[in-house]
Amino acid sequence: MVQNERSNFGSKLGVVLASAGSAVGLGNIWRFPFETGNHGGAAFILIYLACVLVLGIPIMMAEFYIGRRARANTAGAYRKLAPGTPWCWVGRMGVLAGFLILSYYSVVAGWPLEYLVEAATGGFAGKEADQFIDSFNAFASQPLRPVIWLLLFLIATHLVIVRGVEKGIERSAKVMMPVLFILLVVLAVCAVSLPGASAGIEFLLKPDFSKVDGSVLLGAMGQAFFSLSLGLGCLCTYASYFRSDTSLPRTAFNVAAIDTLVAILAGFIIFPAAFAVGIQPDAGPSLLFITLPNVFQQAFGSTPLLAIALSLMFYVLLAVAALTSTISMHEVVTAYLHEEFKMSRRKAAVWVTLGCTILGICCSLSLGVGSSYTLCGMTLFDIFDFVTAKIMLPLGGFLIALFIGWYVDRRQVEEEISNHGTLKVHIVRLLLFVLRYVAPVAIGIIFINELGLIHL
Ligand code: TRP
Repeated sequence: MVQNERSNFGSKLGVVLASAGSAVGLGNIWRFPFETGNHGGAAFILIYLACVLVLGIPIMMAEFYIGRRARANTAGAYRKLAPGTPWCWVGRMGVLAGFLILSYYSVVAGWPLEYLVEAATGGFAGKEADQFIDSFNAFASQPLRPVIWLLLFLIATHLVIVRGVEKGIERSAKVMMPVLFILLVVLAVCAVSLPGASAGIEFLLKPDFSKVDGSVLLGAMGQAFFSLSLGLGCLCTYASYFRSDTSLPRTAFNVAAIDTLVAILAGFIIFPAAFAVGIQPDAGPSLLFITLPNVFQQAFGSTPLLAIALSLMFYVLLAVAALTSTISMHEVVTAYLHEEFKMSRRKAAVWVTLGCTILGICCSLSLGVGSSYTLCGMTLFDIFDFVTAKIMLPLGGFLIALFIGWYVDRRQVEEEISNHGTLKVHIVRLLLFVLRYVAPVAIGIIFINELGLIHL
């Protein structure tokens, strides 16, 4: 394919790392553990893994196809591939979902910065599990501090976005991802060897299928989409910068494997530690932040300097992992405004950052001063999470599957997935079968079941 003047990722490793950088983030380290905790443990994880395999990988390949074939932002891509049809609304819904997720995600992305300061000033020393819970609640419900961190975080995202694709996105992913991975392994080993950790390991490994209901299925599916950055055209936008010799199936498998490994590792840090110190696994969004300081305390309490060094490293890396994800969401919306409305990239980025700042502040305040404003028992923060992860992303995935499975000509899919015949790919048939039948039916059943129209 002729490469137009849009920029491209510089190397093959860069492609995998940048996509993995988008996928690996708070979704794995913060959201996966708390959703697992809310939904009863091992059975949820098994269903999650099935969702990654059956829905995640095929839909990721579909997004890669759309992006690289069209070489445009997500809404523009549908217009190029299906001119004059309503398919571009799938892209537009994705842009909206990206904007909404970025808003509340940045709130959580700011929290590690507070913990970074806390760790650097020795604030963890001598605290018990209960005190960590109290201090988290006191922090998150304050009006000002979380908002300052949120702002700082959005500004950092903004700066990377205006520096452009290769310099900004690719470089930050290349260095940080491997370091994060090693640190997670170290922390998992520490957590698993805490006294009393075995109950947590059992929670992760012994499925209790009697607890599986519709909300577990929807939760696992939503988490798979969220964690793999699917359903809103994020990886489609990244694929528009892929080189024409990048193998789409291999990249999809690698990204899904890295992402899943990081999530499971995070589980092996959080649950053994939570059970060891008596924190409830269903503590919700605070779970990571109230559990982790205990690991540093308990495992390294006797060598305070090591505890401080490791906790500093962890919070820096968590913030960077979040940053490589926020960049990818910001890029979806910025590329859309830039290409569809002919705004300069810089101006588009400013609008996105400003909009997210306003919505992000509302989400942050909804955890404290605004917590009495609820809808169906959910705060604004919860509503953003629910509507995006559990409705918009799976719906986006459903439509993407239909688009590739039924609308696009299969020869074109074969051509693009095999890089115009230079790669031998045997899976196109299977891929199309899954996208035609399996994915739409599975997502449809989970949705209908959740609406209460049928009961599994
Ligand atoms: N996958 C990221 C994480 O796990 C978050 C994310 C980035 C995302 N881009 C996305 C989620 C697009 C959904 C869609 O933290």
